[in-house]
Amino acid sequence: MAYLSINDVSKTFSTPSGDVQAVTPLDLDVAQGEIVTFLGPSGCGKTTLMRMVGGLETPSSGQIVLDGDTLGGPDRRRGMVFQSYAAFPWLSVAGNIRLGLKYRPDLNGTQKEAAVERLITLVELDGFENSFTNRISGGMRQRVAIARTLAANPDILLMDEPFGALDALTREHLQNQLIQINRAEQKTTIFVTHDVEEAILLAHRIIVFSARPARILEDIDVNAILPAEGRDQQVRDLPAFLSLRRRIQDILRNEQQRAEVANAI
Ligand SMILES: Nc1ncnc2c1ncn2[C@@H]1O[C@H](COP(=O)(O)OP(=O)(O)OP(=O)(O)O)[C@@H](O)[C@H]1O
Ligand SMILES: [Mg+2]
Repeated sequence: MAYLSINDVSKTFSTPSGDVQAVTPLDLDVAQGEIVTFLGPSGCGKTTLMRMVGGLETPSSGQIVLDGDTLGGPDRRRGMVFQSYAAFPWLSVAGNIRLGLKYRPDLNGTQKEAAVERLITLVELDGFENSFTNRISGGMRQRVAIARTLAANPDILLMDEPFGALDALTREHLQNQLIQINRAEQKTTIFVTHDVEEAILLAHRIIVFSARPARILEDIDVNAILPAEGRDQQVRDLPAFLSLRRRIQDILRNEQQRAEVANAI
């Protein structure tokens, strides 16, 4: 049995103008410690699928099983980072991160304070511990949200375009950190991005979705193509990286064209 198992899961939204099918019944298994990235056309249903895994949306059919338990509503085992800046403005940077540590019975007070410091350094916010999050930049707020989610130490990390709003250098830094976290902690992660290079760099496996309603077009085993261990930014220059990038861009381009033709008729 896979660690995370998405079985025959679909989602149809009822709207005043009719039903919108966002996700076709699909199956996806994720192994423990795996980083899976989702790529697909805008509006295809990636966030919807992610929200179902996070327990924020109820599937219209099928079930999602995590480590043997069928999932209901949200719980602390699944940590989500959203694209928008989800930091609490009435708390300081350190206060936001402490909130993530609130339900960590494995840590005593001293260990929690050490964790706050470690996480602040991880997301490069040293010196801003006591700043209120409505007084720092959007990119900094996003890093606070990432640190808070990591602080809670969820079994599975669900990241929906978490680096989308960050400048290129901060983004690279956080990509490297995520690779390191995975190496050290083997954290099972689902990561949505529109950036094909980011998807390849981070992933053990890439799922490419069709235009809405989402179905799986390709399930690419990146570890079979690029080194699984010790990947860093230099991997972007490897011929295998470049040809994989081209292959995925072709898939996405063809899918976009197919969807446009289908919508036109
Ligand atoms: N609560 C909702 N009610 C009605 N329709 C919804 C709702 N949430 C999402 N949808 C629709 O479901 C479809 C998929 O949306 P979703 O946000 O999952 O796409 P996405 O792949 O994450 O897109 P993007 O890459 O732009 O973030 C869209 O057509 C969207 O309008
Ligand atoms: Mg989305």
